[in-house]
Amino acid sequence: AMITLRELMDYAAENNFGMPAFNVNNMEQVRAIMRAADKCNSPVILQGSAGARKYAGEPMLRHLIEGAVEMFPHIPVVMHQDHGSDEGVCLRAIQSGFTSVMMDGSLMSDMKTPASYEYNRDITAAVVKMAHAGGVTVEGELGCLGSLETGMMGEEDGHGSDEKLDADALLTDPEEAAQFVKETNVDCLAVAVGTSHGAYKFTSKPSDDVLRIDRIKEIHERIPDTHIVMHGSSSVPEEWLEIINNYGGDMGQTYGVPVDAIVEGIKYGVRKVNIDTDLRMASTGAVRRHLEENKSNFDPRKFLKAAEDAMMGICEARFEAFGCAGHA
Ligand code: G3H
Ligand code: 13P
Ligand code: NA
Ligand code: ZN
Repeated sequence: AMITLRELMDYAAENNFGMPAFNVNNMEQVRAIMRAADKCNSPVILQGSAGARKYAGEPMLRHLIEGAVEMFPHIPVVMHQDHGSDEGVCLRAIQSGFTSVMMDGSLMSDMKTPASYEYNRDITAAVVKMAHAGGVTVEGELGCLGSLETGMMGEEDGHGSDEKLDADALLTDPEEAAQFVKETNVDCLAVAVGTSHGAYKFTSKPSDDVLRIDRIKEIHERIPDTHIVMHGSSSVPEEWLEIINNYGGDMGQTYGVPVDAIVEGIKYGVRKVNIDTDLRMASTGAVRRHLEENKSNFDPRKFLKAAEDAMMGICEARFEAFGCAGHA
């Protein structure tokens, strides 16, 4: 059944677990997540970006998710809008049947330029008023996601400016978070703690000073009733990086957010963990390997099935590690 993010987050908080929120654009991603959830008996958050609706087409994306709910009636599913850039994007997601929306007012609607506190507060409060009137959950974001190593916002394919940001902008301030929650009434808050979108997050295994899990603890102490969301939380699996490069790909050496660090964050109030890159990498690696090893094959179902199975493996590992397995 379809549920709201708020219901799932409240239950996760009572039971001290976190939820991976996987981005979906196509059937194989949806099937991989649902099959893994079925196997682990976990609830699910399927999140679609505005880019996903553009890629699949709004009716197709909506029906993919409705199809998932119909095929797995015993699995609770949240249909969440990822990174809404303005009120219109959030409203159209609600009209499409999303039970939860993210209003990302940390950036202007170009999704590149860092926004002022007042802009963020006003646009997020407006979305909360509209969404809550219809029983829809709202996630806000305070602070700019980006690397504390380089000051760059990351994300090679869309968001993020080319300007360098200082640590102040790249770390959510706990006092400001408390004020933001009070002034907007958001259900969940995405925070900046040194993670960034995309594959190129850290140049080596992240130390405590570039991945600030301690900051999550401080924020949680100030806003214990607001569910904390970690974005840019792919772990960038070394084994998939190697498979991609061994089968004709060309990705640079890079490190993601270790699963252990996320598990630590979950102890301090993280309830939703956004993951897109890991499934993209598993999918690409599996397709490259399959085509290389099966040169006579021209049936896309064969290599797309390989991609689905590879993604399913990652989903299962995250459901188990974050503690949501067994909670469907
Ligand atoms: O935060 C960004 C997500 O990875 C979604 O990316 O806008 O390319 O669908 P997208
Ligand atoms: P990754 O690029 O680390 O997978 O992050 C995805 C994300 O935060 C989507 O909102
Ligand atoms: Na989101
Ligand atoms: Zn994100």
